[in-house]
Amino acid sequence: MTETPQNSTTNKHPDQHLDKTLDRDCTTLSRHVLQQLQSFGPNAQDLSALMSRIALAGKLISRRFSRAGLMEDVLGFTGEVNVQGESVKKMDIYANEVFISVFKQSGLVCRLASEEMEQPYYIPENCPIGRYTLLYDPIDGSSNTDINLSLGSIFSIRQQEGTDLDGEAKDLLQNGRKQLAAGYILYGPSTMLVYTIGKGVHFFTLDPSLGEFILTQENVKIPNHGGVYSVNEGNFWQWSEPYREYIRYVHSTKGYSARYSGAMVSDIHRILVQGGVFLYPGTIEKPQGKLRLLYETAPLAFLIEQAGGSASTGEIDILEVVPTKLHQRTPLIIGSPENVEKVKSFVKAVEV
Ligand code: AHG
Ligand code: MN
Ligand code: MN
Repeated sequence: MTETPQNSTTNKHPDQHLDKTLDRDCTTLSRHVLQQLQSFGPNAQDLSALMSRIALAGKLISRRFSRAGLMEDVLGFTGEVNVQGESVKKMDIYANEVFISVFKQSGLVCRLASEEMEQPYYIPENCPIGRYTLLYDPIDGSSNTDINLSLGSIFSIRQQEGTDLDGEAKDLLQNGRKQLAAGYILYGPSTMLVYTIGKGVHFFTLDPSLGEFILTQENVKIPNHGGVYSVNEGNFWQWSEPYREYIRYVHSTKGYSARYSGAMVSDIHRILVQGGVFLYPGTIEKPQGKLRLLYETAPLAFLIEQAGGSASTGEIDILEVVPTKLHQRTPLIIGSPENVEKVKSFVKAVEV
C-alpha cells in the first residue's frame, strides 16, 4: 500500500496553497462588481458587463496614448470646435468613438452622451432593449495630450427611464443621485480605473502584460483634511470676492500647497489619496464655471462622496443639482470634507 507523503498538498483546501498574488491577479473588474453586489442576477451581470466594456475603452485609449508620439494622426487638433466652443483634439474624437464602439452589439447601452456630441448618440441595435445610458468625458485635460502628461476619462451610468421615442433624452435631466455607477480612468505612469457602484470606491491598475485591470486598493477613503488646494489661480481676477478671500486665506496659512495639472482627473485623484480640495468657481467669462454636470462634476461627486468626501456648487451639493440641459455647467468645490466646508464658509459668509 502506498502512503500519502506527509507534506503532500493533495489534502489541502485549494486556498491554502494558492499563491496570494494569483488570487489578486484574478480579481478583475467584472468579478469585483459581482462580488460587490453579492449576486449573479441580471442587474449584477449587466453592471459587470458595463464595467468590462468601460475597461476595454480605457485599454484602447491607454494603448493609443502610450504610442502617441510614434504614430501619425494622434497628436494635435482636428481644426474643429465642439459644442462647448472648445478646440477639438484628435484624441478627443478617437476616444469619443472608442466608447461608442465598445458598446455596439452589447444590448446594454441604447444612448451615449458626451462632451464631444451636441445630441445623445443612439446605437440602434441596442434600443430598446438597452436599459442603460453612458455619459462620459472621453478625454479630460486634453491640453495635456501633446505634452505627454497625465489625462483622464470620466464616466457615469444611468438607467434609461421610459422609451425616449422622441429622442430628446429628457430623463437624463435628473439629479446625480440617479447614477448607478461612476468613475474615471487615469492615464498616468500607469493606467488606473477608479469606480463606484454606490458601494465604496475601488482602485484598479492596468497590468499591460495581462491586458487586465487588477484590483489594487479596495474601499478607499479620502482624508478628512489635506494640505493640497488645486485651482487655476490665473482666473483670480475673474472670481467673485469670496473665492478670492479663500485663496488669500490659503496664502497666509501654514500647511497648504498648490497643485494643478490641467487635468481634473489627475488633480482629484491626488486629493482622493492625499486629501485637499479642487475648485473650479464661476468666472466673468463663464459664470457657471467651465465644468459640465452630467459627465464631469456629477460622476466625480458621486465617487468622492462614496470615499467620504463632499462636493458642492458653493450653494448646494453637486448631487442635488437638477440640470435643465444636457451640457449644463456647474461651479465645483470637491474633496476632503473639512476643506470643502472651509471654502463654503467663505462663500456663504458673503452671501448673508
Ligand atoms: P476637458 O479637457 O474635458 O475640456 O476638461 C478640462 C478641464 C479639467 O480637466 C481641468 O481641470 C480644467 O478643464 C482646466 O481648465 P483651465 O485651463 O481653465 O484651468
Ligand atoms: Mn473634462
Ligand atoms: Mn474632455
